[in-house]
Amino acid sequence: MIRSILVPVVFALGLAACGGGKETKSSADPAVVAEAKQVWDTRCVACHGPQGMGNGLNAASLKTKPRSFKDQNWQKETPDDRIKKVIVEGGAAVGLSVEMAPNADLAGKPAVVEELLAMIRGFV
Ligand code: HEC
Repeated sequence: MIRSILVPVVFALGLAACGGGKETKSSADPAVVAEAKQVWDTRCVACHGPQGMGNGLNAASLKTKPRSFKDQNWQKETPDDRIKKVIVEGGAAVGLSVEMAPNADLAGKPAVVEELLAMIRGFV
């Protein structure tokens, strides 16, 4: 009896432990991956740079320089939800610079936002 209760509990704990890591998995849908990459290349690279190092062509003229996404501490300390909020609602939504503009059209495309998050997580 005790055993039959313990086994599922231990199993559930094991699953929770596995799910606790950073979500860096890419969306399986190639169309979503392609769209996210296109958004990144056409909108984000100008400021954030192709590798997310904050050195895009427009970065020099910004008042607030975008950080490098390769910053390990930032990666560790910044929750997924905050990154997704900044992308959709803009920097001002979380107290960052308004130079990080909102991308309101992505509000209806959570899979694309998720993939942009995965790309940002992948820059380390
Ligand atoms: C006009 C330049 C510009 C463009 C275009 C731009 N960003 Fe930004 N972004 C910034 C700046 C500047 C900051 C830093 C704001 C701050 O630290 O106050 C920022 C911050 C961010 C952050 C938060 C980083 C942190 O410090 O927590 C994320 C995530 C982000 N941008 C993602 C994106 C994505 C994804 C795109 C494309 C859809 C994009 N940005 C387009 C300028 C830009």
